[in-house]
Amino acid sequence: MCGIVAYLGDAEACPVIIKGLRRLEYRGYDSAGVALLNGSLNVYKKKGKVQELENLLVDKNVHANIGMGHTRWATHGEPNDVNAHPHFSENQRIALIHNGIIENYAALKQELINKGHKFQSETDSEVLVHFIEHIQKDNQCDLAEAVRLALTQVVGAYAIVVMSQDKPDQLIAARKGSPLVIGIAKNGQEYLLASDATPIIEYTNQVVYLNDHEIATIRKGELKIQNMEAMPMTPYIQQLDLELESIEKNGYEHFMLKEIFEQPNSVRDSMRGRLVASQNHVMLGGIQKYLDHLLNAKRIIIVACGTSWHAGLVAEYIIEELARIPVEVEYASEFRYRNPIINKNEVVIAISQSGETADTLAAIELAKSKGAIIFGICNVVGSSIARATHEGAYTHAGPEIGVASTKAFTAQVTVLSLMALLIAKKRGTITMEMYSDLVTHLDQIPNRIAESLKLNNKIKKLAAIYKDATNFLYLGRGNNFPVALEGALKLKEISYIHAEGYPAAEMKHGPIALIDKDMPVVVIATRDSSYDKVVSNIQEVKARKGQVIAIVTKGDTLIPKMVDHVIEIPATHEILMPLLSVVPLQLLAYHVAVLRGCNVDQPRNLAKSVTVE
Ligand code: G6P
Repeated sequence: MCGIVAYLGDAEACPVIIKGLRRLEYRGYDSAGVALLNGSLNVYKKKGKVQELENLLVDKNVHANIGMGHTRWATHGEPNDVNAHPHFSENQRIALIHNGIIENYAALKQELINKGHKFQSETDSEVLVHFIEHIQKDNQCDLAEAVRLALTQVVGAYAIVVMSQDKPDQLIAARKGSPLVIGIAKNGQEYLLASDATPIIEYTNQVVYLNDHEIATIRKGELKIQNMEAMPMTPYIQQLDLELESIEKNGYEHFMLKEIFEQPNSVRDSMRGRLVASQNHVMLGGIQKYLDHLLNAKRIIIVACGTSWHAGLVAEYIIEELARIPVEVEYASEFRYRNPIINKNEVVIAISQSGETADTLAAIELAKSKGAIIFGICNVVGSSIARATHEGAYTHAGPEIGVASTKAFTAQVTVLSLMALLIAKKRGTITMEMYSDLVTHLDQIPNRIAESLKLNNKIKKLAAIYKDATNFLYLGRGNNFPVALEGALKLKEISYIHAEGYPAAEMKHGPIALIDKDMPVVVIATRDSSYDKVVSNIQEVKARKGQVIAIVTKGDTLIPKMVDHVIEIPATHEILMPLLSVVPLQLLAYHVAVLRGCNVDQPRNLAKSVTVE
């Protein structure tokens, strides 16, 4: 949800910033802009992708050693040149980039208009930079103090960077609720600021994650951090654990395809050191201090959004089946606003790839305020959710850049399966035989995913047949029902075809009315306890002339006779099947989208990291 990047050092700032913006483009891509300071403070901004901004800069003098850039996902005001960041203050001597939402911007704006301020854009962010200028004038203070005083009056979420023509050697940054990482290079002679670490890694692995309510003042050789009460804070410098090649496409046409194909490795990485099949051993180092809360939980509440919510639904089946603890899965956005009941002995698990989703963070804060112990399942190390939870386990899937989540889902389901196994064993709710069987199957999942990926060409051909469909239905039962939801979500996100995921048996209460000869119906019909029931559901679809694409277990001889197309995936324990059944659905969505000419990695209107509610 908007990406911000800034540079201060001896090198040319503009190319560093543009490269950083490209890395952050997954966070929003409806406009982009830069501010560069070299004698004067110049702002260039343009509607569209970072490429449009680059085209604009071709004939400009962009020489500067300090600057900042922004790639936007619109909240206040439509995507256009004027609403793009950076924004200037009234006197055009201060510029600001912002990721987040200033909730009380309307009141502040009115106050400033009454004082004679004129606004160019419709954004909340422009109000903030005008407000900073106003506070500075009123208080005759320096810029950092003006930023601090302004922020004490701001309601909402932000990560901001501020530059001033009057302080040409400094950057001011602050955060509350939106991420901001500061990279320190060349012994503090060079600084890079960004919404995540991806624009930073090729310059340094020394970083400081700015905390909420902190303000940083950065000059060459100097990084000062203070809190909102103007108390100096000691920067906590951490070592980044991220490889440059993990954020590049490495020969794949799209990040999404690369990430789908990475799944054998990413799932293996999620289990590394946690599952030792030869010793029949499962452990999660990050969940020890509060493990008893999990083991004795009377109920587990899972909060998440989007694909992470689907992983939560899969986990509901797995945890209930194995650990016999009731699980409820909630959309974080609903949970946070409905005064939920959290009793003693109930715990919350928050799932988030980015670790920055605003609704999930707010749900965590709410649950915390009600005294709950919260476990986090996050992919991004050091992210806000990882830090806001009491304990947790990272998914270690590596950076996910394609907006449509793929490897994060399988990694989340893997970690949640490990968690379920661990709890079940300790609670004694599964037999040793079943435990060992699941450990063996889980250990084999990366190889089974690798086999499933061999279906790529077949699925590409299938995509060519159905690429012009206007609707798709996805059906599944048991823990393949959330996979049906996920398959439908993938398709609509990137191909813009309307798709619905439904429990196969529930189809007859509604979606069956949609079925005709033009309706592709993807049915997950793997060999499990609901197999016979799903076979009946397939017959119901076929009786109405729907086109059935069935995902079946290798060796199935019955379903191929009934349906239009079969996709055979390897067998595994039925509890773990979502880890395999989702793979062909990811590939189907991908190929349909490519064949329709859609921008797979940056679908319209979406953003990877939704840091606004
Ligand atoms: C956005 C992304 C989805 C993601 C969801 C939740 O909508 O486009 O891919 O599933 O946010 O994000 P999180 O980072 O919390 O898992």
